[in-house]
Amino acid sequence: MYRTNTCGELRIGDAGRRVTLAGWVQRTRKMGGMTFVDLRDRYGLTQLVFNVENDAALTEQANHLGREYVVQVTGTVAERTNKNAQLPTGDIEIIVDSLRVLNGSEVPPFTIEDETDGGDDLRMRYRYLDLRRGCVRSNLELRHRMTMEVRRYLDSKGFLEIETPMLVGSTPEGARDFVVPSRMNPGQFYALPQSPQTLKQLLMVSGIDRYFQIVKCFRDEDLRADRQPEFTQIDCEMSFVEQEDVISTFEGMAKHLFKELRGVELTEPFVRMPWADAMKYYGSDKPDLRFDMRFVELMDVLKGCGFGVFDNAAYIGGINAKGAGHYTRKQLDALTDYVKRPQIGAKGIVYARVEADGTVKSSVDKFYTQEKLQELRKAMSAEPGDLILILSGDDAMRTRKQLCELRLEMGRQLGLRDKNKFACLWVVDFPMFEWSEEEGRLMAMHHPFTHPKDEDIALLDTDPAAVRADAYDMVVNGVEVGGGSIRIHDSELQAKMFEILGFTPERAQEQFGFLMNAFKYGAPPHGGLAYGLDRWVSLFAGLDSIRDCIAFPKNNSGRDVMLDAPAAIDDKQLDELCLTVSIPEDKK
Ligand code: AMO
Repeated sequence: MYRTNTCGELRIGDAGRRVTLAGWVQRTRKMGGMTFVDLRDRYGLTQLVFNVENDAALTEQANHLGREYVVQVTGTVAERTNKNAQLPTGDIEIIVDSLRVLNGSEVPPFTIEDETDGGDDLRMRYRYLDLRRGCVRSNLELRHRMTMEVRRYLDSKGFLEIETPMLVGSTPEGARDFVVPSRMNPGQFYALPQSPQTLKQLLMVSGIDRYFQIVKCFRDEDLRADRQPEFTQIDCEMSFVEQEDVISTFEGMAKHLFKELRGVELTEPFVRMPWADAMKYYGSDKPDLRFDMRFVELMDVLKGCGFGVFDNAAYIGGINAKGAGHYTRKQLDALTDYVKRPQIGAKGIVYARVEADGTVKSSVDKFYTQEKLQELRKAMSAEPGDLILILSGDDAMRTRKQLCELRLEMGRQLGLRDKNKFACLWVVDFPMFEWSEEEGRLMAMHHPFTHPKDEDIALLDTDPAAVRADAYDMVVNGVEVGGGSIRIHDSELQAKMFEILGFTPERAQEQFGFLMNAFKYGAPPHGGLAYGLDRWVSLFAGLDSIRDCIAFPKNNSGRDVMLDAPAAIDDKQLDELCLTVSIPEDKK
């Protein structure tokens, strides 16, 4: 038997017991004739003690243990004189009488402790060592517990977990596909699924009724902190449901996860916000509602007073940063630099602060009378000590997005984005289509299988851009943690949708014939949703990036630096696949 106990298990009540532990040497300290070793495994740390007076040879052996050696020790549990209240095992130590080195270790490239000296790249290259750190491993433990709770909840509601293939056909809508060449079908390619969307709809045609899958999805898109090229969805679909049924099932699941994994009881129904309001008041389809600071449109108040920037603007909007009236010139300049960064692209900020006596002082005082500024103050519901920040621009949507960034930054600076506070909402009534400048046509905002709102179906012929969809996203703390819709189950409506999206009937048949044909054989009304598992885990763990809850993530260039992938393949493999590679000069 390698061990009687783990390194996280022993307590004061075990004092006097003989035990055998196995694990990794985290650290060795020599103090006079005593040597202390911290022994680590997945479950915790236990202090080992070697004493020259008890056994000089054994203590000498302990002095030579290097970091990350794998050892087995036997000894007696004893109460510690110097207790460590930070450690669950901090009341005890093991007086060792036998030590066996099971394996040595080279000096690790970084210290394997919560506070490490390893940079991001190094830690990713040696991810197997990084995962020995308790703070990283605990994210994987949380992830495991979450998938267990998801399965428990969905099983209790009658959902069946069904796997769908990873080698599928490429689809034109959505992000770029990762493709896989087929040796047996020269010149032809599979695609890795961006989501099992069409397959889960086919399962509904099959009468499966309630399906779920914890499934890898692949998208070749630009990466951000909350995006990985391969990520995991909790993908679900239900038959004979309306939007309300899907929302209540998955709001129930979200509440279950909050309770079981965070100990947070959410009793109130989640806020429902139409997409148009989210854009109007927060400039985003995923507003962070941990704080209000909603936009106030100021066109009526500030236009036409001779200030050219506002007079020519298509949109002027302000936020009230409550209590930020003390901001110094330097802080305001830094905020201006922030919104002027190319990623945000605003031209500048106009600000106004409400003084203790109620007067308003602004950066554009010479254009506005105190009376006008009081009108501004009223519109912004601003009180003494508040700071009003205003952006304007010639494109309303773009300016709102810039104001959204400013709002989030102010929320951060004012400490309003507490990671232990959760604000959940459903964004509903998404537009069915959005205009793509790149493609010069309408594109499906969610996907082409989304059902238009019944009351808007007539608009499909007259004003498709105004059609709203039975689509919904769940947003927590400004993160889109899931999204779904009621689907079209009628092949004629589906064909019409493809027509609006610019597909010829032949192309629609070629790309999606399998689905439209299936719909001819009695497709039930159905709808569903997919949650982003990585985003849920990182939200619950308070992480800044979803990378930290994925065992072996890709870096920002989509590379696995540990496996050194992607990489070239050899000529023999290329020949078998009938592929030739030609890389243009500018991509080498
Ligand atoms: P959608 O594209 O909105 O919907 O994806 C569902 C959820 O998956 C997560 N997600 C991601 N997480 C990490 N990295 C990514 N690159 C990434 N992309 C998406 C998000 C998102 O809300 N088939 C539909 C679902 C449906 O309609 O049922 C779909 O894939 O949390």
